[in-house]
Amino acid sequence: MTQRPYIVGNWKMNGSRAMLAEARAIDRAAQRYPDVEIALAPPFPFVGPLREAVTAIGVGGQDCHTATKGAHTGDVSAPMLADIGADFVILGHSERRRDHGEKDALVRAKAEAALAAGLGVIICVGETLDERDAGKAEAVVDRQVKGSVPPGESAAVAAGRLAVAYEPVWAIGTGRVAAVEDVIAMHAAVRARLVAIFGEEADKVRILYGGSVNGENAAGLLGAEGVGGALVGGASLTTDAFLPIVAAASQPAD
Ligand code: PGA
Repeated sequence: MTQRPYIVGNWKMNGSRAMLAEARAIDRAAQRYPDVEIALAPPFPFVGPLREAVTAIGVGGQDCHTATKGAHTGDVSAPMLADIGADFVILGHSERRRDHGEKDALVRAKAEAALAAGLGVIICVGETLDERDAGKAEAVVDRQVKGSVPPGESAAVAAGRLAVAYEPVWAIGTGRVAAVEDVIAMHAAVRARLVAIFGEEADKVRILYGGSVNGENAAGLLGAEGVGGALVGGASLTTDAFLPIVAAASQPAD
């Protein structure tokens, strides 16, 4: 089964009510690209409003707690995201690993909670520059996938609810994009670990590339073997920057 390319905009801690206009414009344009699955993940306060503002694109959160409810001030649960109409949640982003000390085991527990709530999950992995320079990129990412992806989720995997985003930390927000041959090698390593976990069903897991994706480099990255889409930060904040990436993912009708 060939899945549609998946282009996900991660607004990070950016956004406002005024920015919902950008989301609406992206949503309108999305209707011209039915062969691409498009989604946006705004900060929590805007998940509900964005959900109400769009129809053609997916809407997600950028984190969730492991528990369904309770005494966890400042946190948001997966069932709450599902309740306001979110489709998915991004988990284990390197900025959360850095800012909040999130480790693989916690990311895995969050993924289990999100899948139990019926959400799709995008689990982020990626090496630092020091790790790449030390020749450890594949080993680090393999360890992250092994530790962060919940192994007992074959049904959710079969339903296409799990994606992994390979995002080299040194490429995020830096304008420095990974070389296509390195992306191919890293995606193959992620795929191999997913096959070890899920067997044949692993081909239902889309592996996205993330890190300074823009309208100029998107075609090369998205055309690379094993790349099932992109997780886009900075270039997802405006329609003008985001749509060329969507267009690059779309197959021209023949
Ligand atoms: P960037 O962010 O596109 O701004 O590099 C990507 C990400 O962190 O998901």
